[in-house]
Amino acid sequence: MTEKQTYAADGFDWEGLRAHALEAAKRAYAPYSNFPVGAAGYADDGRLLQGCNVENAAYGVTLCAECGLVSSLHMTGGGRLTHFVCVNGSGEVIMPCGRCRQLLWENGGPDLLLMTVSGVKPMSEVLPDAFGPEALA
Ligand code: THU
Repeated sequence: MTEKQTYAADGFDWEGLRAHALEAAKRAYAPYSNFPVGAAGYADDGRLLQGCNVENAAYGVTLCAECGLVSSLHMTGGGRLTHFVCVNGSGEVIMPCGRCRQLLWENGGPDLLLMTVSGVKPMSEVLPDAFGPEALA
């Protein structure tokens, strides 16, 4: 299966969402790693959300692109994430880091769909056996 066929298989415009992620990557502040990241996703009411990584001279304080996207989700009305992708500065799909998989789980749950380096997958496959809010019930 080619990359394009994989992305188009569910009828969703993944290439459009990837373009929004690349647009976000152009806003990244990444003077230390020189690795811009852009994230884009949709909320369940159809809102487009974007985020870029924002680094810091104290390296460990860096905010991943997903942090900005999740903050934007809440700032613009809340809801749940339904579709997500993140890319590097060239627009290539990258995987969310471990911490950000946890952020995505909290805000999208097991059915959130991600464009990954190996095709479109639900969050339940990207973060199997996740720790989540139900564990605290
Ligand atoms: N980065 C993200 O923004 N999201 C990820 O999921 C992976 C890593 C950023 C953090 C840092 O600014 C740069 O990529 C290199 O690690």
